[in-house]
Amino acid sequence: MENAGYGLLEGKRGIIFGALVESSIAWSIAEAAHREGAQFILSNAPVARRLGSLDVLAERTGSPINWADATSDEDLQQLFAQAKEEFGQVDFLVHSIGMGLNVRKNREYEDLHYDWYHKTLDISAISLHRIVHHALEAEVLADGGSIICLSYIGAQRIFSKYSEMGDAKALLESIVRSFGYRLGRRGVRINAISQSPTRTVAGSGIAGFDAMFEFADRLAPLGNADAASCADYTVSLLSDLTRMVTMQTLYHDGGFSAMGISDALIENLTEVLTPGEAD
Ligand SMILES: NC(=O)c1ccc[n+]([C@@H]2O[C@H](COP(=O)([O-])OP(=O)(O)OC[C@H]3O[C@@H](n4cnc5c(N)ncnc54)[C@H](O)[C@@H]3O)[C@@H](O)[C@H]2O)c1
Repeated sequence: MENAGYGLLEGKRGIIFGALVESSIAWSIAEAAHREGAQFILSNAPVARRLGSLDVLAERTGSPINWADATSDEDLQQLFAQAKEEFGQVDFLVHSIGMGLNVRKNREYEDLHYDWYHKTLDISAISLHRIVHHALEAEVLADGGSIICLSYIGAQRIFSKYSEMGDAKALLESIVRSFGYRLGRRGVRINAISQSPTRTVAGSGIAGFDAMFEFADRLAPLGNADAASCADYTVSLLSDLTRMVTMQTLYHDGGFSAMGISDALIENLTEVLTPGEAD
């Protein structure tokens, strides 16, 4: 039966960054937030106008679109000016933005192209700082608000093909803590959701993504968390029910992060590694 929602975000207004196509995690978050009664602006980089289908989501959720490059101060200023005009203040921000330029172009970690590396950090991590900074400067962020960004366990552990993105996520999670301390006095909370591998445009840009996806799925007791379940978790964190949670990296990964090895993987590896079995 379709979930009709619980009205968890009734009366709340926000901005959701990073919905590109239906597979985007932010797309599912927007649908869940709409289901729970929120109103929001959908924002993405101007190039997404040509690459994605945000207008479909905007129509479905009755939301305005604002095209803003999250690495541009001017773009973010005009976005928050629109948010002020539209809503007065916003209760939530969802940062679901990421891009690894060296990863996309198969540049090894030992040989990073530094301009691309800077761009990766700027898009995937510093943009969170920039967004919160401009929200504060425009005096748009309501007391008691909630900010969420999307991370990956590659921030803590080495997933070899994740390369520079591990650095970007480590910085992202550090920005969460640094702002969490400063926003706490106003009752504003900020958290990172560390999500399972998910089949999206950003996900499939990582070499070896299918292997990483399968590995996590076999190791996690609940299996990989999909975008729809991530969206449900996100709305709980945007709601008042979680008002005392801040500065955390919250694992939404079916239990993957607490595992070492599972029977399923031992059996798979035994098959592969036992010499002479297939002869
Ligand atoms: N897919 C996964 O396996 C996975 C796992 C854990 C975390 N995440 C994170 O989830 C978030 C969303 O990614 P996704 O998997 O839904 O992929 P996606 O490609 O659908 O979303 C990434 C978004 O970032 C936007 N973006 C890129 N550059 C931008 C810029 N300069 N300004 C504004 N927006 C920009 C893209 O247009 C796109 O909408 C990312 O932070 C990603 O790292 C993804």
